[in-house]
Amino acid sequence: MDGASLPALLRSMTAFDLDLPDLDATMRLGAALARRMHVGDVIALHGDLGAGKTELARAIIRAAMGDGELIVPSPTFTLVETYDTPAGAIWHFDLYRIDTPDQVWELGLEEALADGVTLIEWPQRLGGLLPARRLDLTLSIAAADALRGSLSGDATWVRRLEALAAELTHG
Ligand SMILES: Nc1ncnc2c1ncn2[C@@H]1O[C@H](COP(=O)(O)OP(=O)(O)OP(=O)(O)O)[C@@H](O)[C@H]1O
Ligand SMILES: [Mg+2]
Repeated sequence: MDGASLPALLRSMTAFDLDLPDLDATMRLGAALARRMHVGDVIALHGDLGAGKTELARAIIRAAMGDGELIVPSPTFTLVETYDTPAGAIWHFDLYRIDTPDQVWELGLEEALADGVTLIEWPQRLGGLLPARRLDLTLSIAAADALRGSLSGDATWVRRLEALAAELTHG
């Protein structure tokens, strides 16, 4: 091996990009993720201010709750919002405003990781506390209303990413 660690290698093998040309495409990605996630999953939502992290979290939560009209506020100021879905709890964190990674324990991260699905905006704020067992999903703005999504995950996501790529990308 040329120095690449096995986890890094696995991660690179289980990655794909897709265009999200409009909000509907983002909603479809959210619904496809919601069908495949389970308790213990961590989805790290990366991207600049306004990149669409909350919109994607909203799509995941609405699909998991089976309610396309559900009000899903951004946790900008509350830092965390929780949802009781039929498949378990979803914890939606926005860590932009935390001062130190340790603050997330007060917000309930331990319980989220043990008993729920954890969606995290601004995951880099966690530093070394960000679990290695996770899906990384990076949103970037491609054009007005058009985003690009990049997904990569640890070994627990290999099959699911293959299925997502097959479902959401063409060719
Ligand atoms: N294809 C798209 N998918 C998702 N959102 C889109 C898309 N095109 C335009 N938008 C708009 O982009 C904005 C994204 O805002 P959002 O609050 O989701 O960003 P954010 O990444 O959560 O920002 P912050 O870092 O402030 O939390 C929304 O106003 C949304 O309507
Ligand atoms: Mg947000």
